[in-house]
Amino acid sequence: MTTAQIMELDQQYLAPIYKRAPIVFDRGVGVYLYDTDGNKYLDFLGGIAVNSLGHAVPEIIGAVAQQAARLMHVSNLYHTEPYAVLAKLLVDHAFPSKAFFCNSGSEAIEAALKFSRKWACGVAGETKHEIIAFDHSFHGRTYGALSVTAQTKYHEGFKPMLPGVVVLPFNDASTLDAAISAERTAAVIVEPVQGEGGINPAQVEFLQTIRRLCDDRKTALIFDEIQCGLCRTGKLFAYQHHGIEPDLLTLAKPLGGGLPIGAVLMKSHIAEALTPGCHGSTFGANPVACHVAAAVLRKMIDENLADRTRAAGEYFRAGLRRLQETHPDLKAIRGLGLLVGVEFDRKVDDIIAGCRAKGLIVGSAGENVLRCAPPLIVEHAHIDEALRILGEVLAA
Ligand SMILES: Cc1ncc(COP(=O)(O)O)c(C=O)c1O
Repeated sequence: MTTAQIMELDQQYLAPIYKRAPIVFDRGVGVYLYDTDGNKYLDFLGGIAVNSLGHAVPEIIGAVAQQAARLMHVSNLYHTEPYAVLAKLLVDHAFPSKAFFCNSGSEAIEAALKFSRKWACGVAGETKHEIIAFDHSFHGRTYGALSVTAQTKYHEGFKPMLPGVVVLPFNDASTLDAAISAERTAAVIVEPVQGEGGINPAQVEFLQTIRRLCDDRKTALIFDEIQCGLCRTGKLFAYQHHGIEPDLLTLAKPLGGGLPIGAVLMKSHIAEALTPGCHGSTFGANPVACHVAAAVLRKMIDENLADRTRAAGEYFRAGLRRLQETHPDLKAIRGLGLLVGVEFDRKVDDIIAGCRAKGLIVGSAGENVLRCAPPLIVEHAHIDEALRILGEVLAA
């Protein structure tokens, strides 16, 4: 099929949910993508923070093939080895906890919200059901996840949202004490680094205050590390930057190396509130997704990808700061590790299109912020190439 034919089919047969760029990707290798016309692109978006190990990774391909040939699905009525191995691997490298597996980030958020309410209901009854979320958060598109996504543009036309959600200002510790209630608040949900909302790292004092008040008021603390977890910020888990542990941790995006999988890790007091049948997922704990996720996680840990990411992120940000000296329209550089936001004094659509025309894929996080989340295996030469292209686009 030609590129034009594929786009025509999209137009004719797909619900108009996505605003896709006029490009058809055909294959990827390492940090590069190739379209159906044979053009090569440096991938500085990584499938929106998913392809952390790059494209066409031999270990991932091998893991898919091996498990697909052995057993693809059998349901959660039975045991399989891959989910057990993955759960142990995750828990061994996070905090003492139990795992639940699902198929996406939004599903992980749904589960974390439900598990928190179930636990809170046992603590103080059904009145303890409120969930506190923060301005500019993004937690997904299903109703629960959307309800704690505090950006009204995502709610338009879909109201009413889930009742019992309270939104507070992000990075403002002063409002927490009055809002977190022992009687009413089931959970506080926060991204240690806000992704979609503009790449905003949470301040340590803010997280410390939330942790202290959650302990004091018997409230579950959920860290959404769907975008910022798994080495992206230069630590295996973003919470490790400050040593502040959540009660529940949500993961997804890079976990499956490109296959759909989501996970919730929860401390034992939350797990003890759950009973067989209180939640579930037909495809959750899928053997192929879990086997691949274990291969991804092992590679991240064995190759010390977190340290590498930290160094690469510093190198990238230093280059961006140099670019800023000659481009005052570049207002701010934010982020941690290789989750990088570059704020401009205008919309970034043209910059993204300009970069794409020159062979660099980047994304946005809000209207004015360029989002870079490249594969974590990027080398200095790739970063130099990205900076050169961005510089050319800004100078044009
Ligand atoms: C922090 C965060 N939480 C949740 C989600 C939802 O994940 P998914 O798109 O896999 O449902 C996203 C997706 O961008 C995210 O960035």
